[in-house]
This record gives sequence, structure tokens and C-alpha cells, in this order.
Amino acid sequence: MRIMRRLDILCLAAAAYFAFAGIAPADGRAQGDGVPMLVHSHSDAMMAQHRAMDTIQKEWTLAKGALDEGRPLAAVGPVKAMERAAERIESFMLHKNPGGREEFSKQARDFKDLLSAFRQLLQASGAKDYDSERVRNTVMEVDRACDDCHQTFR
Ligand code: HEC
Repeated sequence: MRIMRRLDILCLAAAAYFAFAGIAPADGRAQGDGVPMLVHSHSDAMMAQHRAMDTIQKEWTLAKGALDEGRPLAAVGPVKAMERAAERIESFMLHKNPGGREEFSKQARDFKDLLSAFRQLLQASGAKDYDSERVRNTVMEVDRACDDCHQTFR
């Protein structure tokens, strides 16, 4: 996290440097245009991925809280919100492991599938075949998916 913030600050510093360099470029070419724009959209993308993960974290806490209170149906909404936020994971910029795009995409897709299966289990709450044991195991699987992906990519 702290390293990410520092990267962002470095990017802003670079943007400022190139913006000024662009006013009077040493070699006479107008190269300042566009560079700050690029860096700007880079920061936007970083903000977007922080927000997606913040949402996932917040909703996951809500979902687990509802389950702890024995209210599986109340966990459905939070898990849906996680699924929506998880749609955005695949387009993340990878700072820690940029070469791992393929593996990252796979983990992002598996994560979405896991959440969707989890939501369907929860929605069956109240039905005769509701499987609370499987729900508990899936909670652990989701926690493991967070940790696995973070170990390689966060
Ligand atoms: C497929 C990969 C992947 C999965 C699955 C995943 N994360 Fe993340 N997470 C990331 C990456 C990459 C970052 C770093 C993003 C960044 O800093 O821009 C991150 C960052 C975070 C952060 C820090 C947010 C911030 O401000 O940057 C939190 C909190 C977080 N994840 C929570 C979770 C939780 C909780 C789960 C599981 C329920 C989860 N993540 C599942 C990849 C993943």
C-alpha cells in the first residue's frame, strides 16, 4: 500500500516535470502535450482499482457479519456488490507482477465464478437443500482467493 502511494506521488512529480519540460523542451520539439494526460489517466486507473478493492473488502465484511448472525439471505446483497466490483479486477494495472497478466486474469475470473456460486448457495437459504456446511467452506475458499491473489499481485 505505502509503496503504491509512493508510486503515485512519483507519477505526479513526473507529470509536473514533463508539463514544465513541455513548455520549453530542450530539443525544440513540443513533447510536453500528452504526457501529463497519460499520467493523469494512470492515477485515475489507480484510484478506480483502490475503490474496487475497498468495495470488495467492505461488502465481504458485511457478508460475513450477516452469516455470523445466522442470516444468509442478508449476505446476498453484499455478495452481489462484490461480484459487480470483481468485474473490474481483470483490467487492473499490475505493478507488483506485470508479467503475470495471464495468471492474474485466471484468478480474477475464478474469483468471480466463486462469488457467483456462493451467492447461489446463499439464495437457497430456507430451501430444504440449503447446505450450511458448504457455505462455511466457501467462506474459507473466498478468504483464500483474496490471500492467494494478494500474495502474487498486491
Ligand atoms: C484476482 C486478484 C485479487 C483478488 C481475488 C482479490 N484482490 Fe484485493 N487486491 C488485488 C490487487 C492487485 C490489489 C492492489 C490494487 C492496487 O493497489 O491498485 C488489491 C488490493 C486490495 C486492498 C487494498 C485496497 C487499496 O486501497 O488499494 C484490499 C483492502 C483488498 N485488496 C481486499 C480484498 C479482499 C477482501 C478480497 C477477497 C474477498 C480481495 N481483495 C480479493 C487483487 C485481488
